[in-house]
Amino acid sequence: MQMHLQLDGRGPLHAQLTRALKTAVFAGRVHQGARLPATRLLARELGVSRNTVLAAYEQLRAEGFVDGRVGSGSYVTPPLQVVRPAADAEPVLEPQSEFARRGRRYHDHLRIPGMRIPGVRHAFQYGVPLTNPALTSAWARELAHAAAYTAPNYPKTQGLPALREAVCDYLGRRRGVQAVPDDVVIVDGTQQAVALTARVLLDPGDEVLLEEPHYAAMRETLQIHGARVRTLAVDDNGLCCEALPERAPKLICVTPSHQFPSGAVLSLPRRLALLDYARQHRSWILEDDYDGEFRYDARPLAALRSLDEHGRVIYVGTFSKVMFPSLRLGYLVVPAGLRGDYVNAKWQDDFGSAGIEQAALARFIVDGGFERHLARTSKTLKERRAALLAALRAHGDRLEVADSHAGMHLVVWLKNRSAAEGEAFIARARSLGLGLYPIAPYYLDPPDRAGLLLGYGGLSVAEINEAMKLFEICLQEG
Ligand SMILES: Cc1ncc(COP(=O)(O)O)c(C=O)c1O
Repeated sequence: MQMHLQLDGRGPLHAQLTRALKTAVFAGRVHQGARLPATRLLARELGVSRNTVLAAYEQLRAEGFVDGRVGSGSYVTPPLQVVRPAADAEPVLEPQSEFARRGRRYHDHLRIPGMRIPGVRHAFQYGVPLTNPALTSAWARELAHAAAYTAPNYPKTQGLPALREAVCDYLGRRRGVQAVPDDVVIVDGTQQAVALTARVLLDPGDEVLLEEPHYAAMRETLQIHGARVRTLAVDDNGLCCEALPERAPKLICVTPSHQFPSGAVLSLPRRLALLDYARQHRSWILEDDYDGEFRYDARPLAALRSLDEHGRVIYVGTFSKVMFPSLRLGYLVVPAGLRGDYVNAKWQDDFGSAGIEQAALARFIVDGGFERHLARTSKTLKERRAALLAALRAHGDRLEVADSHAGMHLVVWLKNRSAAEGEAFIARARSLGLGLYPIAPYYLDPPDRAGLLLGYGGLSVAEINEAMKLFEICLQEG
């Protein structure tokens, strides 16, 4: 039998051949009961080894596509009832719930382009982690150890006690937060912490106050859960707490240690004013302490939670910045009265975060590997930041840099350019192979100015210097 098999070039040859044969069966090019070509013959025809064909036939046999034994021929079995969507089936349904409707409205994920932009050599993409071979090998060792020694049953919903203890120790030393393991809930990153907070604290229609600008994923998540979002401006001292609204929101979300994205630090008087406001109005405060650890010119600031005497602050930390985002681990420090509700919500979500990763992380922190990694990463980030700042400051006449002394990103404004001109600037940069990103998505109501959010965590000093040459070309043109 002559077969027209198209190998797709993806993965091992035997897997390609298995796929091609299945496609032929599905397409009706090989009929039920037909004998597949002898392995030797097909191998010769395709220019592959006989073992490759044998492996593919074996796989088809295991999956029930063919019958028969090696040597006596392989026959295509009666086709499985393959249900194909009718050509005229409606490709996208109406949203089936209000939740789904809000999802499409506020963050239609499948329509959002991926992080990688084709043709871009250097991208100042925020959120790209710093790649670090020392961390990779240390983490591989911890994971292997944890895989061997972690109990395979469901982990505790609230989080592994060893990790909660390690987190408390770390928070006490580095962030001034006094907490006991019972106060801590381990979560799958800030993103889950926000979703749990929305479910535990908010009913659809409840008001949430966000900083302007703010972390867009947090806003979208709250909106998808039905929150009504208002914003309050940020200046050089963080959220303008003097202007907190008379009608208090149920929840106030802040980034006091390193305002995202502006970089401001919430001043002490404002911290106290915010806590007092929350106490008086019985509002909750969600403190997102995503990268307060990385401060370059001074000691890291204590978290807002360390001043909270009335139990109004829900503190969120993440390992996405201090380790890497694919880890998907973070933690909440929750006032005692809310703890049960948070643990219930976490149980409903996923029963608990992945046990092996939690165990590996706990051991990494306790062993001191985490501290060593933090010290190395801070040094590297500081060098990258210095390189970027030096290049940006050389163009002080055209750029305004909002320097923040912390984190893995900077905000830069292109002087005397509108938001639309900023978009044109970004498009020009892209045509030169440079990825730049506008600040506008981080506002509910974006200003008509050209602003950029430059993430530098994922670029080496050499790459930053290369990238800034392209940036300068764009600047000089406009
Ligand atoms: C302000 C802010 N909070 C939190 C996070 C981290 O989110 P997660 O822990 O879900 O990775 C980020 C990541 O980019 C961020 O920018």
